[in-house]
Amino acid sequence: MDINSLKVLFTEEEIQNRIKELADEMNNFYRGEEVYSVCVLKGAVMFATDLVKSLNMPVKMEFIRLSSYNGGTTTSGKVNAVDISLPDLNGKNVLIIEDIVDTGLTAKFLLDFMNCNFHTKSTKFCSLLDKKTARVTDVEPDYYGFEVDDKFLIGYGLDYDGYYRNLKFIGYIEKQV
Ligand code: IMP
Repeated sequence: MDINSLKVLFTEEEIQNRIKELADEMNNFYRGEEVYSVCVLKGAVMFATDLVKSLNMPVKMEFIRLSSYNGGTTTSGKVNAVDISLPDLNGKNVLIIEDIVDTGLTAKFLLDFMNCNFHTKSTKFCSLLDKKTARVTDVEPDYYGFEVDDKFLIGYGLDYDGYYRNLKFIGYIEKQV
């Protein structure tokens, strides 16, 4: 992929402003509560770390690692739990933090996993990006930053074959056939 052909979709400033708006909503919702954030690695790492810095309730940060992409721009359609070890989340407020909901298979897998393993006080799903038109499941994030078209996005945690997660902005390339 030629980095120079990348088109900017959301600038660093737009991303950071929207994250602060999401954090304000969460600060209202969780007022007086503690939260266990669950960051889905690797893609959500930038978003999760920026988001929690603007949360003002006590937060514990957990990390799990899933994968569904083959590398490049195609999903395998199957979610692999690379590492899903979590503490006891019974009775806790759980905030799952994802980079993007695309088909929704990962979100469904995670919500089913939480339901099967814990009786949480609340479970909320937050995704920076929501590719609604690509959905094959009926899951919807409780919070999302931006609705996006069905393009392959990279930057700010999102990768192309492992690269470009470190970009401060989010850009897109056309889907490869
Ligand atoms: P889903 O299970 O199809 O909803 O996809 C979830 C995962 O696929 C995300 O956490 C990303 O890691 C990856 N993914 C989906 N769309 C994109 C994209 O446009 N760029 C980079 N990764 C993506």
